[in-house]
Amino acid sequence: MIQVDLTHMRRFIALPYEAALAPRLRIAHNHLQKNDGAGGDFTGWVRLPQEYDRQEFDRIQAAARRIQSDSRALVVIGIGGSYLGARGVIECLCSPNYNLRRKDTPNIYFVGNGLSDRQLRETMELLEGVDFSVNVISKSGTTTEPAVAFRFFRELLEKKYGPDGAARRIYATTDRQKGALKSLADQAGYETFVVPDDIGGRYSVLTAVGLLPIAVAGIDIRALMQGAARMQEVCTAGDMEQNPAWQYAGARYQLYRAGKKIEILASYEPSFRFMSEWWKQLYGESEGKENKGLFPASVEFTADLHSMGQYIQQGERHLLETVVRFDPEEQESTVPFDAADGDGLNFLAGRTMDFIRTQAMDGTLLAHEEGGVPNIILRCGALNADTLGQLIYFFEYACGLSGYLLDVNPFDQPGVEAYKKNMFALLGKPGYEDMGQALREKLGR
Ligand code: PA5
Repeated sequence: MIQVDLTHMRRFIALPYEAALAPRLRIAHNHLQKNDGAGGDFTGWVRLPQEYDRQEFDRIQAAARRIQSDSRALVVIGIGGSYLGARGVIECLCSPNYNLRRKDTPNIYFVGNGLSDRQLRETMELLEGVDFSVNVISKSGTTTEPAVAFRFFRELLEKKYGPDGAARRIYATTDRQKGALKSLADQAGYETFVVPDDIGGRYSVLTAVGLLPIAVAGIDIRALMQGAARMQEVCTAGDMEQNPAWQYAGARYQLYRAGKKIEILASYEPSFRFMSEWWKQLYGESEGKENKGLFPASVEFTADLHSMGQYIQQGERHLLETVVRFDPEEQESTVPFDAADGDGLNFLAGRTMDFIRTQAMDGTLLAHEEGGVPNIILRCGALNADTLGQLIYFFEYACGLSGYLLDVNPFDQPGVEAYKKNMFALLGKPGYEDMGQALREKLGR
């Protein structure tokens, strides 16, 4: 089970804070457990790992097997909460080089997460002569970036397999009832999976949104759900001692009150990169409103110690650092012995990578603490589907608590609409004509 080690943040807080904060955490916790806080209609994820729809889960596994048997590639179209979790889990458990590795599961290409023509064309090129399927994911069913990408890949599929053949290779994950994607899917006869009404995009990785691509990559989604379900159980505890999410949410909130403005999520595993991206969306969208909230950033150590390390050690002291640590692999590589010792490294010969990494982690921890950066350490155990399931639920639960501690609604994202409206107006979307005119004037067009 994940352990939250607060030893290296305590000296940054003048007085013990746990007892004083516990009543507020209890209120936040009760809101999550009873769905009666701000945004309570979007807390379906709280009970999801134990109460998910078993029938849909079986359909997800069946669809994944079908894709594995008839496709050498899966194109996953989605953005934000409809993208980052799946990519995070796949890269973390299978490697960022998943597509390059020898394997008997399809390559996975993520598109529709931006508006890059290069990315679009490159992916289409990579699919030439390759049997492929598409999983288009959009809760609203109307988001511009994935909708535009879907047009291209739908056309590609229809040219290759004809309209009926294409329809058999398109899997749509969207709202149960509404949205353009749902109507299109019903019309064309695509197999559909549901993003439940009470689960917002950034909390949806353990629904079909994340599970279908993750299963296609060959990851044991049952183990992922089991890990999450165990953490759900742990997070029902209504006290600081027993509940790791309370400990993490409480510590980062207290550091925020003590003047820290940026939380850096650090990992020593490059494959964790997109889990960090997922975490950034989760916390950034949940807390960053009403002029409040820690800014979530991420670093990959040790690579970033040679770039961002300078700022972390000596820049403005508004940082806190949360470090995700995993146990070493069972068989870690050892540094080879070199009789000539031209590089002077024989003092490390026979040492495992884990030994070297641990000294780097501990050395960095002490240096950063000394430099004025409080560190929260998350000890996660072995890196596998079960622990990642635990970690996902742990971060989600702590995020819900954190939003309530800040007194904001952790489940809405009103700020995301501002750019969307401007973009629609500038693109000439029907209904936005006057706004478009006003914006063009502002831009001097
Ligand atoms: O968390 C969110 O709500 C957003 O990041 C959405 O996930 C993102 O905008 C994509 O939305 P949709 O799934 O409706 O296409």
